Amino acid sequence: MLRLLTAALSCAGLLLAAAPAPDRQQEAKKYFEAECALCHGPDGRGLKSSARMYRVPLAKLDLAQGPAAQSPEPDIVKIISEGKGKMDPYKKKLTPEEIEAMARYVISLRANAKKN
Ligand code: HEC
Repeated sequence: MLRLLTAALSCAGLLLAAAPAPDRQQEAKKYFEAECALCHGPDGRGLKSSARMYRVPLAKLDLAQGPAAQSPEPDIVKIISEGKGKMDPYKKKLTPEEIEAMARYVISLRANAKKN
C-alpha cells in the first residue's frame, strides 16, 4: 500500500515537472537545496562547515536571520546575479526570472526561521 502510494506520488511529481508552466517558486526551492544549501544550509541558516571552509562568519551565511535577513529584494537579486565576496555570481547559470524567483524564495526563508 505504502509502495503504491509512493509510486502514485512520484507519478504526480513527474506530471508536475512536465507541466508547461513550471512553478518557479518550487524550482527555486529545489535549486536552492541542490546548490545554495552547500553554504547557506537547506533552511538558509548557514552551514558551520562552510563558514569554516570559506572563513566567513556563520552570520554572513545565515539568510534567514542574520544581517542578510534585512536586505530588500533588489539587493538580494543583485547579490545572486553578481555574487558577493566568496559567493560566485549566478547570472550565467540562472535566467533573470529564475533569479527573481530565487530572491523571493530566499526572503520566504525568513518567515520559516521565525516559526522554528
Ligand atoms: C560557496 C558558498 C556559497 C554558495 C554555493 C552560495 N552562497 Fe550565497 N553567500 C555566500 C557567502 C560567503 C556570502 C556572504 C558574502 C559577503 O557578505 O561577503 C553569501 C551571501 C549571500 C546573500 C547575501 C545576503 C546579503 O544581503 O548580504 C544572498 C542573498 C545569497 N548569498 C544567496 C545565495 C543563493 C540564492 C545561492 C544559490 C543560488 C547562494 N547564495 C549560493 C556563499 C555562498
